[in-house]
Amino acid sequence: MAHFQAHNMSLVDDSGISLETVETIVQLRARIQHWKSMGESIALVPTMGNLHDGHLALVKAAAESCRRTVVSIFVNPMQFGKNEDFDTYPRTLRDDIQKLSHYPVDLVFAPTIAEIYPQGTETTTQVIVQGLSDILEGEHRPGFFTGVATVVNKLFNIVQPDIAWFGEKDYQQLLVIRQMVRDLALPIEIHALPTVREVDGLAMSSRNNYLDEKQRRLAVKLYRCLRHVVDSSQQGMAYHYAVVHACQELDEAGFMTDYVVVRRREDLEVPSEHDKSLIVLAAAHLGDTRLIDNLAFELM
Ligand code: PAJ
Repeated sequence: MAHFQAHNMSLVDDSGISLETVETIVQLRARIQHWKSMGESIALVPTMGNLHDGHLALVKAAAESCRRTVVSIFVNPMQFGKNEDFDTYPRTLRDDIQKLSHYPVDLVFAPTIAEIYPQGTETTTQVIVQGLSDILEGEHRPGFFTGVATVVNKLFNIVQPDIAWFGEKDYQQLLVIRQMVRDLALPIEIHALPTVREVDGLAMSSRNNYLDEKQRRLAVKLYRCLRHVVDSSQQGMAYHYAVVHACQELDEAGFMTDYVVVRRREDLEVPSEHDKSLIVLAAAHLGDTRLIDNLAFELM
């Protein structure tokens, strides 16, 4: 059985593994200051929980990168739109801690909403990463990247990590965070890992849980379409055609496509003919579930 206490939770599972979990900034800071005073380096993996192998790959890499590893679990209301899935987003803290207990994690930070937004999300100070926040995901989810940048900046200030780890699965988010760190001169290294996929190629995501069996079988089509854009572009076909074809395929399979685009990998600008390091990104709805994915590629 797992045991929780209200404000300083610690989980002890059947095998006696214990993982300290705190929910207040004060408690977290005390631990951080202790580690810093001993000159220990700190890695942070920010998550919204419902952990899968993609998250856990980040945790493993983080633990190898620094002496101490902190994982944050916080479903951030500020990055969800009014009609989005904030209320239904899977919250599985107990299972998450159980999974993390198999990794060399030093501390889980699982704050309440009031801890992060004492004034509420409407009147809090915002971090707006201009430009990048307005395209692609930002165009379809207004306010999303401001919510992400604001909470990640706050987590950075609370944890003060040397290194923070992010997944390429959310590629635009990764670039937004990198720009924020550059623009605000935050003394933090941003490291990234490639997307972890299911056996059939579907990118792992907490939102995959929303899919019913039939949708789950169809969902892999998103990855296959991206793969097709990459393969045909590398074989010399103009990627515009491959993108149009991908959109048609997705429509026919029953997706509602928000976008399939090929962009310059470094900044998501529209590529010129000289750009060779590219990335194809897509977002599409399958029923009520919104899926995103991307694949980076090189042209000869
Ligand atoms: P979340 O969706 O929980 O993802 C947490 C981290 O795991 C992100 O860096 C994300 O890119 C990475 N990740 C998710 N699926 C992955 C996969 N299949 N392979 C590799 N990495 C994967 O992204 C967020 O939370 C939030 O926006 C957050 C940054 C925590 C701010 O609230």
